Amino acid sequence: MANNRTYTMVKPHAVADNQVGGIVKMIEEGGFRIVAMKKTQLTAAQAGKFYEVHAGRPFYGELCEMMSAGPIVAMILEKDNAVADFRTLIGSTDPAEAADGTIRKAFAKSKGENAVHGSDSDENAEIESSFFFSGLERY
Ligand code: PPS
Repeated sequence: MANNRTYTMVKPHAVADNQVGGIVKMIEEGGFRIVAMKKTQLTAAQAGKFYEVHAGRPFYGELCEMMSAGPIVAMILEKDNAVADFRTLIGSTDPAEAADGTIRKAFAKSKGENAVHGSDSDENAEIESSFFFSGLERY
């Protein structure tokens, strides 16, 4: 994947609170094109696999439990400089530090329930996109 795509998902608490529309509005108004999108639910084992890079961290169990507690909305997004620009749009992991105008400032509740995930590199964007979507699901 070139450096113009990133992966995101709306986390279960935000889906449960009917915030998908508000988040997608900010994503599209931020200049991102939705390449792929679906609502699905992770098992705890699948969440564990997705976040396995954090397996040694104290919050890993809580993170996997939270990410499998309900449906998520997964998306691949396209824009020049997508990974970095999307990390700017979502804001800091901790909503207390998120800048005004960011998705997490608007919708996050805590460092875990922080509304959305965003890939942290081009390599991980492709790995994470392929975890959820086949080539046939990308338009
Ligand atoms: S980052 O973006 O990787 O630098 O952020 P980091 O602080 O390393 O957090 C990585 C992911 O772990 C989640 N997280 C937590 N979940 C539950 N409880 C606590 N305390 C907690 N702290 C961090 C955080 O939301 C990140 O998830 P993603 O989905 O990557 O945003």
